[in-house]
Amino acid sequence: MTVTQKSVYVKTYGCQMNVYDSDRMRDTLRTMGYVETPIPDNADLVIFNTCHIREHAAEKVYSELGRIKKLKKAKQGMLVAVAGCVAQAEGAEIIRRAKTVDLVFGPQTYHRLPDLIARRLETGDAIVETEFPAEDKFEALEQQNGRKVLNRNVSAFLTVQEGCDKFCSFCVVPYTRGAEFSRPVSQIEKEALQLAEAGVCEITLLGQNVNAYRDSDGATLASLIAKLSQIDGFKRLRYTTSHPRDMDEALIEAHACNPKLMPFLHLPVQSGSDRVLKAMNRGHGIDYYFDTVAQVRKTRPDMALSGDFIVGFPGETDEDFEDTLKLIETVQYACAYSFKYSARPGTPAAEHPDQVPDEVVSDRLVRIQGLIHAQQTAFNRALVGKTLPVLMEKPGRDEGQLVGRSPYLQPVHVRGEKSQIGTVLGVQIDGVGTNSLSGHYGAVEA
Ligand code: SAH
Ligand code: SF4
Ligand code: F3S
Repeated sequence: MTVTQKSVYVKTYGCQMNVYDSDRMRDTLRTMGYVETPIPDNADLVIFNTCHIREHAAEKVYSELGRIKKLKKAKQGMLVAVAGCVAQAEGAEIIRRAKTVDLVFGPQTYHRLPDLIARRLETGDAIVETEFPAEDKFEALEQQNGRKVLNRNVSAFLTVQEGCDKFCSFCVVPYTRGAEFSRPVSQIEKEALQLAEAGVCEITLLGQNVNAYRDSDGATLASLIAKLSQIDGFKRLRYTTSHPRDMDEALIEAHACNPKLMPFLHLPVQSGSDRVLKAMNRGHGIDYYFDTVAQVRKTRPDMALSGDFIVGFPGETDEDFEDTLKLIETVQYACAYSFKYSARPGTPAAEHPDQVPDEVVSDRLVRIQGLIHAQQTAFNRALVGKTLPVLMEKPGRDEGQLVGRSPYLQPVHVRGEKSQIGTVLGVQIDGVGTNSLSGHYGAVEA
């Protein structure tokens, strides 16, 4: 096959699942003769892989599209694509708002990219492809890429489960990613082997409710992890995001008996008030969350916990908010993310009459972020003097410096050689920043 070289610029917003999707798009485009360019200026194809989770995230794409209009005028034949969750949610509306857009396709349709580009070039019409397809996206992607070794970093994401059926009352994901489904183990294993062959030593298994993973043969996330950790090249496994309702015993137990499974758990609870959790349709209460955390910590005492919180959910009172702060005090997170509630079109909570005024939400956000920051700093400081196994990931900003990851996901800066990238080394921690650690090699290789 003769291919003419073209360039593609990809910009990714949102969660790790979008990061994974962008990588798969890159793989497909590479087989079509596209090379990646770090700036959009002269690109033949510009892709914005977008996020719809909060209003602010969704609006970003329109300011990007405003900027790209000028570049498109200067570069003949440039195609502009809006992919991801905004594409899925807004579809043809994007073309109406931004005439500069040529292609709109969602998280479940990007495997049709070769066909979409061909159709656009043939017909000259803008194309919107947001129907949830009946065919298997992952099989189609594999056919496009064959067994081609993928070019990934030391650490890679691997989506094992798509969509969401939980319908939390504030959330767009069930609408933008569609119904929940789990990929078959054999398909995941094949992709994992490709990643291992390409030199990946850490994989993070992804899904919006990754711990609800269950394939048609009854495999669970725990059994999938057991299987993938047999792949020699993998030194570390992680998974995200877990829903409290789906934290089963086998998965918790895996943290005690599988040395490759890292002691880090992102377990969002969103609020510390039973009343708010009910209104959010989270399907569990506070006591259940505390019990789960206790069981996790009993099984793996050094487990680092992280979480997400929504501040100012409709109807949230001062008392509800104080309960959230109390929950955070009780759990003691290694890190956590907090967001102002954003009313999303089409979600039940957006219709709620009791929206919290913005000044109140802003004050609450400052308080919650202060508390979370203090906990994160305390967690990091407690590691000073300890020797942690650190997976070396990439060169640091300074000459002769490497950046790696601790088991607890903090970046760790250390002096080192490029040849050490991909190895796990013992690092004694002697410095603490807000979001990172630094140290020097300890005597033992971990
Ligand atoms: N599936 C994961 C979360 C996915 S979205 C879970 O159930 O925990 C990531 C985070 O974005 C959520 O945990 C929540 O804290 C936040 N989020 C989702 N919808 C939001 C909204 N409408 N406004 C503000 N934050 C939101
Ligand atoms: Fe959204 Fe809830 Fe599904 Fe998470 S579990 S993706 S918050 S609907
Ligand atoms: Fe955003 Fe879609 Fe992820 S809405 S958070 S990119 S699933």
